[in-house]
Amino acid sequence: MKKIIIEGNKELSGTIKIGGAKNSVVALIPACILADGELKIKNVPNISDKDALIEILNLLNVKVIEEEGTLLINTQKTENKVINEKLSNKLRASYYFMGALLGKFKKAEVYFPGGCNIGSRPIDLHLKGFEALGAKITKEDCKYIIETKELKGTEIYLDFASVGATINILFAAVKAKGRTIINNAAREVEIENIAKFLNRMGAKIKGAGTERIVIDGVKELHSAAVSVIPDRIEAGTYIIMGALLGKNLIVDGINPNHLKVVLNKLKEMGINLKINKNQVIINKANKLKAVNVRTSVYPGFPTDLGQPMSVLLTQAEGISQFEETIFENRMGHVPNLQKMGAKIEYERQHATFHGPTKLKSAELIATDLRSGAALVTAGLIAEGETIINDADHILRGYERIITKLSDVGAKIKIIEV
Ligand code: UD1
Repeated sequence: MKKIIIEGNKELSGTIKIGGAKNSVVALIPACILADGELKIKNVPNISDKDALIEILNLLNVKVIEEEGTLLINTQKTENKVINEKLSNKLRASYYFMGALLGKFKKAEVYFPGGCNIGSRPIDLHLKGFEALGAKITKEDCKYIIETKELKGTEIYLDFASVGATINILFAAVKAKGRTIINNAAREVEIENIAKFLNRMGAKIKGAGTERIVIDGVKELHSAAVSVIPDRIEAGTYIIMGALLGKNLIVDGINPNHLKVVLNKLKEMGINLKINKNQVIINKANKLKAVNVRTSVYPGFPTDLGQPMSVLLTQAEGISQFEETIFENRMGHVPNLQKMGAKIEYERQHATFHGPTKLKSAELIATDLRSGAALVTAGLIAEGETIINDADHILRGYERIITKLSDVGAKIKIIEV
């Protein structure tokens, strides 16, 4: 277990370079096994979720060479194996091997996925999609066995625009016979990145990034290369930190179009932002206006930024209302912020912030990845030494966070306990 220790209230100045998107790379890696050949993924973030997926590729006899942010993946000798409980449990995205193995071998045996405990997170929509394509599903202990003789294209209507279900169905459909249409598909930009990679392998996918994706099945997929898009959540987190402590803090290597709703909300709070083509320059605001934030699917306010955003709301003057609409258990950061002195009332998915309140340093617990990011943000503005236990969660999604923050002036370290 790891612990982060922060000596707060230090100005942040300089440049933070944003890495590749976690939610893209965790699907791009499993996508590789659909092809027979050499795949190249560039701009790969150095996060522990990536390492866990490489372990799964190794289990499947896939050769992986990692060189400075690039993965070279040779899938020519891929074997179908059970994705065991230990590996599957390490992260949520292990479930992408269900769609990918099904698409490749017509059979997948995968233990239940792990990931952040932010709600019940069922995968019924993924499974219904596989069934609609002709697969039979058996649940055995904590494992799904998904198999068929032939996958046949069909029209699917998702009850909810789930990111995971959209991608998993895409994987199962790219080599299915005939045409598959996914209606009410998730529109997250990461899905466009994944469809682009599959199309470069020879897939025929149209409409990724819209609510209707059309996939015409192909027999074979071949070698291809792709670059991971910038991580809009990592970028948003550092931009929020900049709004609290920045002095011309440059958050660089981003696509501001992917963050429009977040940047608009920050402007509404009175934050001074300069938006360039691939960067945002941000300064600490003297006075923050209270605002209401409601998370929703893309292009709405991302649920993954709701927790870091909460820290900003503790510093706004007046009452801010916050509503989390995607996950039912995403308030793990709130008791921690209350411990630091924040005035927050919350019930289930709603929170009311009374600000501004000066945060005191405290000993905290990161309950999940993004709550961890929120606590780092809180620790950075608190006077004195803040300790964040269970910091391993944070490393699943923020590459080199300690170095990136230290380089711009934060006093932060991580220790093994
Ligand atoms: C992905 C992201 C996560 C982000 C989330 C929403 C990855 C690896 N993770 O998670 O960072 O917070 O999108 O933007 O990309 N649901 C069902 N049945 C299903 C699938 C989902 O009921 O079969 C529900 C979930 O419980 C949740 C909602 O739909 O309430 C959204 O889930 P989904 O979009 O699938 O999120 P993930 O893919 O898990």
